[in-house]
Amino acid sequence: MATNIQTTTKSTVENQTTSRQTSAGESDERIEPEWTNYDFDNGTKFAVDDLDVFYGDEQALEGINLDIPEESVTALIGPSGCGKSTFLRCLNRMNDRIKAARVEGSVALDGQEIYGDSVDLVELRKRVGMVFQQPNPFPKSIRKNVSYGPRKHGDVETGLLARLFGDDAGDEDALVERALRQAALWEEVDDRLDDNALGLSGGQQQRLCIARCLAVDPEVILMDEPASALDPIATAKIEDLIEDLAENYTVVVVTHNMQQAARISDQTAVFLTGGELVEYGDTNEIFENPESQRVEDYITGKFG
Ligand SMILES: Nc1ncnc2c1ncn2[C@@H]1O[C@H](COP(=O)(O)OP(=O)(O)OP(=O)(O)O)[C@@H](O)[C@H]1O
Ligand SMILES: [Mg+2]
Repeated sequence: MATNIQTTTKSTVENQTTSRQTSAGESDERIEPEWTNYDFDNGTKFAVDDLDVFYGDEQALEGINLDIPEESVTALIGPSGCGKSTFLRCLNRMNDRIKAARVEGSVALDGQEIYGDSVDLVELRKRVGMVFQQPNPFPKSIRKNVSYGPRKHGDVETGLLARLFGDDAGDEDALVERALRQAALWEEVDDRLDDNALGLSGGQQQRLCIARCLAVDPEVILMDEPASALDPIATAKIEDLIEDLAENYTVVVVTHNMQQAARISDQTAVFLTGGELVEYGDTNEIFENPESQRVEDYITGKFG
């Protein structure tokens, strides 16, 4: 994982002649296919092919091709409006809820197309959970927030919990404790599980939302700027948690914080204005030696 961000100065003749920059980061630079070819060792969790997304007549994502490896952290970065949230929502079909949105192309999860008509969206969103920018706990007790998903899916009654934890763990308490421990929140709340979740701090609420997501035993956790509303200490806790989660889950995280992307992610996808994926690769390489002049300008803060 990258620990520092280096500023590389690529003032080669080639870049000066093939790329004309503006302060908005617009350029006539051509995106080379090899900039987004990324070979990884893990298995492929998502395979995204020729993905286009439109909102009415406006195109938000154009021709996105990338594969996301399992059990790792993938960061999505890029300036506001470049389509990061749109892309994230494609991975569990949350865009289906937006009337104007139209998705074309293919997204396969473990080799299976998720945009087929017969796909069970409840099951998909159980496998691919989501955590949002603003913590959004239900106005219920901490315990009920965590057990909400398994109760909704009927897992408490159907014995899924017993299958997950063994016969003696078929009860809700075990599930609540496991999810809160995984979300690094248990020790702060174990004596007040029946208190209203809205009484927690923002950082605690966000970890509770992560616990709520983990309680249904997902495979993938999508996070859209999960720490941007938090102070530095709460942010550090979320970052540590994301790195821990990647040992067992596939995590895809949108962030505007370059240092955060460099610290926590294994690979980084850089989207730029126009909804194109410009670079995708190992996080260290993207931050230390980007191929694209625009990506270099973006990560060194020249625009965005
Ligand atoms: N529900 C919607 N209806 C219409 N247009 C939308 C909708 N959501 C997003 N868009 C448009 O699609 C483009 C991409 O938006 P998106 O929210 O994915 O960007 P983003 O990279 O997540 O930006 P930010 O960093 O500001 O969150 C923008 O031009 C935006 O205005
Ligand atoms: Mg967004």
